[in-house]
Amino acid sequence: MCGIVGIIGREQVAPLLVDALKRLEYRGYDSAGVATLNKGVLDRRRAEGKLVNLDNLLKEQPLSGTIGIGHTRWATHGAPTVRNAHPHTTPRLAVIHNGIIENFAELRSMLEKDGYVFETETDTETVAHLVTRALDRGLSPVEAVRQSLPELRGAFAIAIMFKGEEDLLIAARNGPPLAVGYGDGEMYLGSDAIALAPFTDTLSYLEDGDWAVLTRNSVAIYDESGMAVKRRIEKSAGTAFLVSKGNRRHFMEKEIHEQPEVISHTLANYLDFSKGTIRTDAVPVDFAKIDRIAASACGTAYYAGLIGKYWFEQIARLPVDIDVASEFRYREMPLSKDSLALFVSQSGETADTLASLRYCKQQGLKIGSVVNVKESTMARESDSIFPTLAGPEVGVASTKAFTCQLATLASLAVTAGKMRGTISADDERRLVHELSEIPRYATQALKLEQQMEAISRDLSQVKHALYLGRGTSFPLALEGALKLKEISYIHAEGYAAGELKHGPIALIDEHMPVIVIAPYDRWFEKTVSNMQEVAARGGKIILITDSRGAAASTLKTMHTVILPDMPEIITPIIYALPIQMLAYYTAVFMGTDVDQPRNLAKSVTVE
Ligand code: M6R
Repeated sequence: MCGIVGIIGREQVAPLLVDALKRLEYRGYDSAGVATLNKGVLDRRRAEGKLVNLDNLLKEQPLSGTIGIGHTRWATHGAPTVRNAHPHTTPRLAVIHNGIIENFAELRSMLEKDGYVFETETDTETVAHLVTRALDRGLSPVEAVRQSLPELRGAFAIAIMFKGEEDLLIAARNGPPLAVGYGDGEMYLGSDAIALAPFTDTLSYLEDGDWAVLTRNSVAIYDESGMAVKRRIEKSAGTAFLVSKGNRRHFMEKEIHEQPEVISHTLANYLDFSKGTIRTDAVPVDFAKIDRIAASACGTAYYAGLIGKYWFEQIARLPVDIDVASEFRYREMPLSKDSLALFVSQSGETADTLASLRYCKQQGLKIGSVVNVKESTMARESDSIFPTLAGPEVGVASTKAFTCQLATLASLAVTAGKMRGTISADDERRLVHELSEIPRYATQALKLEQQMEAISRDLSQVKHALYLGRGTSFPLALEGALKLKEISYIHAEGYAAGELKHGPIALIDEHMPVIVIAPYDRWFEKTVSNMQEVAARGGKIILITDSRGAAASTLKTMHTVILPDMPEIITPIIYALPIQMLAYYTAVFMGTDVDQPRNLAKSVTVE
């Protein structure tokens, strides 16, 4: 989604703004722009497409000034054109915005009646004219913003710079995240800590309803009612993160290869490897007092939650209801106060998941979140955080965050089993040992890379693909299909293998590749029957299994991928790796933008 940066500094800010925007590229965008103020002149440059276009434009037509704002836009209202790109300006100010102004049509017609002329189709331009109208009525910039904010409905993070005010930036947040960065005689605004990492590691996160007035030497924050408030000043770990692909072609490739390491960091947070026990001190929830989990999440995080459901129910005998957050938040499900509301999110900012969290909070439930970004809104609004230690994930297609979510959920399920007395001390030791082996198996799985690349060459020739699995391999089939479609644009669907005969089998012919995820587990034989149904209709099978599975299946496959034999609990985590590599290399063969696929955003902060 859109990225915001603002700097009141001492140096020329235009290159710094572009640098900060590059660090926000991972969020997804389709146009970008910057504006600066210099000796009374407010000027801007905007470009469609990638930041390199804005960079080139700035080389041809540089912008001067030590105060400025910058923006990457992910189009919601109006096409991704230069005209609709931010910053939006009036003769008196420039504004950037992330989110949606829901009452923009109403505001626009009111402002047009007052004589304000709109140049774009964006909702953001209403903010520019609304505040300008207040200035035209004689209010100071601070008063103009104070009086305009209550008129805006929706989710927004905004930053405004005013002509004639070279030591003033005003920001507001109601929904999408916005951080204030503190420097020495310099102040910053950013959508996240990563954007500001080269400038400062000292940040305050605005809360919903907050607005902030920044000068080079001061920051004042006010809440919705206009009361001055203090927000915690934190040291961010974001500075440790350098946006670099290392020696890899894409962030996604790098992130796939980081998995053995980051999964082991994540597991170490929950498991005591030396004692062979779980670390109950890492889990601030008494699962023995919980009768149900109400979980929700979006996209890949939802599929991680679906796999978690199998583990919680089997290991801890704890029922889990799981929904996609965009449905959960509106379906008014009856919730028991003895339930734990559990949210899974890499970013911790996904609008639908956050809204579901807040809904559950209103209902009086205890809130737990599996999140990767510790400073995120979800992390801050949860009673308990179950961190994933995947590190910053830049590729839009989630890989390492997914497997770290799984590692966390598996560890939590074992913890819950221990607390609820559904597993013995021996079971605990065995399960902890099995989980501790994930990094080793993941390293072995990565050795399949060349084979996955070769299979991807074939897959890149097709228009459609099906993924099948049973048990925990079913949500993995859904994830495999999502991964393929989001980065290669090949149409793919995932199904529970047993559902094949209830409809999707009609799609099978000699042009349809079917990726079957089938470790030799308790579901294997049933899955083989479904594979037989595919083979009988000429479908091309790509079987992902282990040596026992390969030996047990006599069916002709187009490709068979053989993973090591491994304990059942870890199969969805390890089998995720060839699935990710398959999507990755297919996209590489297709020549798509792997890290920033079209139309997608890393952090989806609108409904
Ligand atoms: O940040 P979140 O985990 O809440 O994001 C949820 C989804 O938007 C995300 O997983 C999305 O589906 C990814 N593009 C999948 O690769």
